[in-house]
Amino acid sequence: MVDAARGLTIAVPKGRLFSEVGELFARAGCPLGVAEEPRRLVWEHEGRRFLLAKPVDIPVYVRYGVADVGIVGKDVLLEAGEDVYELFDLGIGACRLVVAGRKEGRGRTYREVGPQALRVATKYPRVAREFFASRGLYPDVIALSGSIELAPVVGLADLIVDIVATGRTLRENGLEEYETIAPVTARLVANRASLRLKDEAIAALTACLEAALSVRPPDPEG
Ligand code: PRP
Repeated sequence: MVDAARGLTIAVPKGRLFSEVGELFARAGCPLGVAEEPRRLVWEHEGRRFLLAKPVDIPVYVRYGVADVGIVGKDVLLEAGEDVYELFDLGIGACRLVVAGRKEGRGRTYREVGPQALRVATKYPRVAREFFASRGLYPDVIALSGSIELAPVVGLADLIVDIVATGRTLRENGLEEYETIAPVTARLVANRASLRLKDEAIAALTACLEAALSVRPPDPEG
């Protein structure tokens, strides 16, 4: 069945999702054909073309049709607001988008946490603004590109909006999760024109991925 998925260009995220995506696609009979994250950013394998991009850029490659489909976290999708079609939840890369801050602020209302103008540091300014606006709050949102946990530790911000996976980064910086904004997993997304022009190939890929997800991966402990 997976042969029908030939001819697709698939945008794959570099970084923490890469190995999980590689494993899932191999189980689905659609291997990436590389053992680990390559330096080469475009390659072909078994009639499919793969692009390796930063997760935050995947919706852009898909939106412009450079890739027919892509794999991207729901956090990135919520922030990007790009017009791509979300096909289905791959269930991998689970984490959550949260509001967090210093331990001693826990239990206070957001107004109490930032008595002057509340400052929120984040890689997700759109998500943060929408979340706080839904609470009637319009904080000063400070856009950063990484190591977000540093901001409340050194007094740049009162709060952060960021993803939490194990919680280790928060703990090791004396921070605590105050509230979950949204659970996050990786999604398969498609370009809207590709959905029409390559509907059979995309349906075949989706079916193979769904079949792979319905079977538990072999237990490495035996
Ligand atoms: C992410 C996120 C947190 C961390 C959470 O950062 O922004 O900093 O992972 O993971 P944990 O709950 O398992 O500790 P990432 O590693 O993507 O790098 P970044 O700091 O450049 O955003």
